Amino acid sequence: MLLSHLLWRSGIDNVVIEQRSREYVEARIRAGVIEQGTADLLRSLGLGTRMDDEGFVHEGVTISNSRSPFRVDFRALVGRVVMVYGQTEIQKDLYDSAVSANRPIVFEAEGVQLHDLTTDRPSVGYTVHGERSVVEADFIAGCDGFHGVSRHSIPGDVRREFERLYPFGWMGVLSETPPVSHELIYARHPRGFALCSMRNPMLSRYYVQCTADTDAASWSDDRFWDELRLRIPAEAADSLVTGPSIEKSVTPLRSYVAEPMQWGKLYLAGDAAHIVPPTGAKGLNLAFSDVYYLAEALDERFSSGSTTALDAYGSRALRRVWKAVRFSWWMTTMLHTFPDAGEFEHRLQETELEYLAGSPAAQTAMAENYTGLPF
Ligand code: PHB
Repeated sequence: MLLSHLLWRSGIDNVVIEQRSREYVEARIRAGVIEQGTADLLRSLGLGTRMDDEGFVHEGVTISNSRSPFRVDFRALVGRVVMVYGQTEIQKDLYDSAVSANRPIVFEAEGVQLHDLTTDRPSVGYTVHGERSVVEADFIAGCDGFHGVSRHSIPGDVRREFERLYPFGWMGVLSETPPVSHELIYARHPRGFALCSMRNPMLSRYYVQCTADTDAASWSDDRFWDELRLRIPAEAADSLVTGPSIEKSVTPLRSYVAEPMQWGKLYLAGDAAHIVPPTGAKGLNLAFSDVYYLAEALDERFSSGSTTALDAYGSRALRRVWKAVRFSWWMTTMLHTFPDAGEFEHRLQETELEYLAGSPAAQTAMAENYTGLPF
């Protein structure tokens, strides 16, 4: 949707083909931390009004090691901040803007297939309510997520995959309770990682590390709250307000990159090409930088005829992607309990946290990455 918006702004006709219904997308619970550059981009497009009214500026985060907290002050260290505003809310803002400008979006498109990607007339076929349609195009942006068809349209002998599966998942709970802290708390604990996040003053989002195969329904709310309390700093545990969960689910953690990000007239963006574990809150932000680069390249192609930027799209995007892959892997490795870790790994993990707690240089590197590298 953001790519579509950027392209319309450059006068480039496009149609968005979405597998789900608008209601489904707007009800999905997604992450909520927006990098400074992402927020600035939305503002520059006139899409930041509700974000600035309803979102929250966060100037730092708390990191906790075995219940002892320390704070990383983004504003003081790098002069940048993040916004807490749900991805779902950004999606609503993008839909509202597209609908009010009468821009075409096809919802509930099934059986999507990409054709003729290496010709001048690539096309996308899809079925809505039993009726088959084909859109012929100059270019196709594959923004269809990790489970979409786009990536698989790149021949297997061309595509390389880089992957790390983590031996655990996150159980997430949403509850209509006041957040325990006005900033996020990322907690390492021998029982496993925990995260305290939020959506608004009466909506909290919490996560605890669990085994990857845990069935969310097998955990009662009480079990979740008890586990969370044990892992976060005592002061936070004592003031935690609990309530019924309005959503509870388990997410696996993985790092994944597919290269190249382009093939013929197909350009992949976001989760279609790469997945990061949620620990660094980078998934949405990476999708934004990908489509920003892609829109810039398509604008150059349509305004001057040059394909220089388009040809370089994937390698430009991947340079930023890999830095976020590194950062998310680093945060994940530092903060989780790895079932197969030995004594050496435990000491290194303790040392990593001790170094971060005491070194302004290490905190600056974290703040620079968390608030977002430039794009
Ligand atoms: C969230 O609020 O859902 C959230 C926040 C920070 C993360 C991941 C998820 O790193």
